[in-house]
Amino acid sequence: MALTLFEVAVWRDGRLRMLDQRLLPREERYLEFTSAEATARGIRDMVVRGAPAIGCATAFGVAVEARRLAARGIPASWSEAMAPGMRLLMESRPTAVNLRWALERMRPLLESTPPADVPDRLLAEAQAILKEDHEACREMGRHGASVLPEKSGGGVLTIMTHCNAGALATGGVYGTALGVIRGAVDAGRSLRVIACETRPFLQGARLTAWELHRDGIDTTLITDNMSGHLMSRGEIDVVVVGADRVAANGDAANKIGTYTHAVLARRHGIPFMVAAPLSTIDLQAADGSAIPIEERPEEEVTHLGGVRVAAAGVRVRNPAFDVTPAELITWFACEKGVVATPDRQKIAGLFSF
Ligand code: MRU
Repeated sequence: MALTLFEVAVWRDGRLRMLDQRLLPREERYLEFTSAEATARGIRDMVVRGAPAIGCATAFGVAVEARRLAARGIPASWSEAMAPGMRLLMESRPTAVNLRWALERMRPLLESTPPADVPDRLLAEAQAILKEDHEACREMGRHGASVLPEKSGGGVLTIMTHCNAGALATGGVYGTALGVIRGAVDAGRSLRVIACETRPFLQGARLTAWELHRDGIDTTLITDNMSGHLMSRGEIDVVVVGADRVAANGDAANKIGTYTHAVLARRHGIPFMVAAPLSTIDLQAADGSAIPIEERPEEEVTHLGGVRVAAAGVRVRNPAFDVTPAELITWFACEKGVVATPDRQKIAGLFSF
């Protein structure tokens, strides 16, 4: 299929340029970022979102900060000069581990590169991260698609997804969960997609449905609480989602509501796939209980499109992610291949080839 390349986080004229995902699908507006502080604010406020996309934005945020500092003269210690900006980036969102992964990849370059070359070296690394993300998504899509169940009698396979794990959530092409769907389309599979709207931030309604519709993929939007009903009627064949952080034992944190779909899928004997690159695996987290879960502002729950829908003063909870235990995951797909029923040993094995 023809590939759309979204400018999720790209380098343009010495600045970081990002598509403002908060305005989609109504408007395609781009914002420019010239410091780590501004980039961190952009990540926190959801200009860019989705774990791999946050990783790419973070890497470019580091590069743009180095360029800003170098304009005043090469610092005596790059590590010291960059520390405040890198801390702001690190604190911008807690669950997507790609953010920490990107910082850990950039940080050693501050000391190992001749001081005058640091800004260019950081930019080259950020560009490499973006390119690797494109390749990982394509590979993951191909691997994930290869295990999707066949529909008896050559019928149309119905895939349900949650949140947006598409091109918009990665480096701008293919995506992870939507990469698997695109990989299946590329392989000639006949399919349709059920996209859950994803309350409270509506990534499914605003982003996934838009992305897939643009690509001409048959997509039906539902509210999150409709999935059990459709499953009970045999209207969903497989669930494919992304992840923000996968623990060493295969437990996977993803957008709030994912766990509910996984429990329902198990109840109805429906396979459940998690698709994510190796950069989303956190071997330091022994299991899902070690994954920090972001709590976001209550206005995301009390308001819809800027209009208050809940009584003022009502107590609100807004955890942005939940953890699906590995035992509920049928397949974990990444750029290296697919493992069935992920566990500690199989996850560790993905790093050894
Ligand atoms: O809060 P968001 O929009 O950043 O959450 C995004 C998700 O939960 C995605 O499913 C996940 O990051 C995978 S993106 C390829």
